[in-house]
Amino acid sequence: MSAICIVGGSGYVGLGYATALAELGHEVVALDVAADRVAALNEGHSPIFEPGLEELLRRGLGSGRLRFTTDADDAIPGRAFVFLCVGTPALSNGETDMRQVRSAAITIGQRLRPNQRTIVVNKSTMPIGSADLVTQLLAEHVRDGAEVAVVANPEFLREGAALHDIFHPDRIVLGASDRQAAEAVAALYAPLGAPVLITDRRSAEMVKYAANAFLATKISFINEVAQVCEALGADVLTVAEGIGADPRIGPRFLQAGLGFGGSCFPKDVGALAHMADAAGLHPQLLRAVLDINLDLRRRFVAKAERSLDGLDGRTIAVWGLAFKEDTDDLRESPALDVIGGLLERGAVVRAYDPAAMAKAARLMPAVTMAADPYAAAGGADAILIVTPWKEFAGVDFGRIAGVMRGDLILDGRNLLDPEAVTGAGLRYAGVGRGRTGAVPSAILSGAPVVSRD
Ligand code: UGA
Repeated sequence: MSAICIVGGSGYVGLGYATALAELGHEVVALDVAADRVAALNEGHSPIFEPGLEELLRRGLGSGRLRFTTDADDAIPGRAFVFLCVGTPALSNGETDMRQVRSAAITIGQRLRPNQRTIVVNKSTMPIGSADLVTQLLAEHVRDGAEVAVVANPEFLREGAALHDIFHPDRIVLGASDRQAAEAVAALYAPLGAPVLITDRRSAEMVKYAANAFLATKISFINEVAQVCEALGADVLTVAEGIGADPRIGPRFLQAGLGFGGSCFPKDVGALAHMADAAGLHPQLLRAVLDINLDLRRRFVAKAERSLDGLDGRTIAVWGLAFKEDTDDLRESPALDVIGGLLERGAVVRAYDPAAMAKAARLMPAVTMAADPYAAAGGADAILIVTPWKEFAGVDFGRIAGVMRGDLILDGRNLLDPEAVTGAGLRYAGVGRGRTGAVPSAILSGAPVVSRD
């Protein structure tokens, strides 16, 4: 079993790996600059909402194999592996802010013991060439005799399923200039039984960006198809099923709706486009993926405005605030733009989310937070479904019809059974769900078609 330090150990990725590696039997010290989070973590309280995380945290603390500290002199010297899990946020031009990585690399370099070999594992999503940068910073700061290798080891965790993804990875990608270092890191993951790809460092770093960019592209693709479906009378759910049955395409990440948010896809697609630009290239597909994604939010507000004959003075219930279900994370959430668009057109917004309301109340003081979906719907002219929480599909729409002022449900995630809604006397509109079989005759005769939204 190995001695491991996790730098950035109270963050999303760092905390996941700290608890998981302790569970696998390693001795883990998680280092973080946030003293309040470190104190809470040592008490067994997770600052992050993630299924199963707090339980694993408590088990790790109880086993004596996991602890948290703010003291780098305590955490770093003598560890065989140091995982870099610090934040790599985006600057406004899409470039990655590397300040935390640089400062962590210097902190690590200064504390490596002479006559010892340490492997630094880059987990944070960092631009191509970052392992070289970290190697250089370490070399500039290590004392004589300390030996260090840097391995690029991107993570593929989904929020809300992070622990599942850590314990059941599809693949482990390791980029190294030193095969032995890559094999030592592979040995840490051996109990998980996943295929391991050992490659050069830049290719490993690129795998992460390309994976996220491809998934984001799939989402923007189906959203563009959804718009065409809606205009021409086809049903995007059927189309997604029809194309997803082809194993070359696959059924996942073909849910049309309000597109992607979160801390990863928008940031990583933007960063990849920025890197391509900086290399003198023209990343037009990546730019289109981002454009389509943001357009969805504007179009959704426009659809509400059209359907209600104006938004000024209307009361709108927004169901769902988090960027996806099973998380309280609001970063880049479509809800923020949708609500912003509603408010600036004069609507009164009442929102409900099972997990994200405390955070949302601080960000959006003009929005009233409701105790449940029914309270949000009370007196509303329309309900807009923005996040696909399962709870919304189980709502009693007869009761909803009784409390609303209007009768419109705009389902931005195609979550509901339209018949359950219309059966309660309400109007339903999903995304890309045109009248099946109704190809406008204008198309057939070659006349111009005007989009219906
Ligand atoms: C994503 C990737 O899925 C992970 O593999 C990766 O490790 C992670 O980013 C990261 O870079 O750290 P995450 O952002 O947690 O994970 O969320 P996803 O489940 O991928 O969903 C992203 C967004 O796409 C959500 O807003 C979701 O609602 C949306 N989405 C997803 C769709 O609109 N349609 C779909 O078919 C699927």
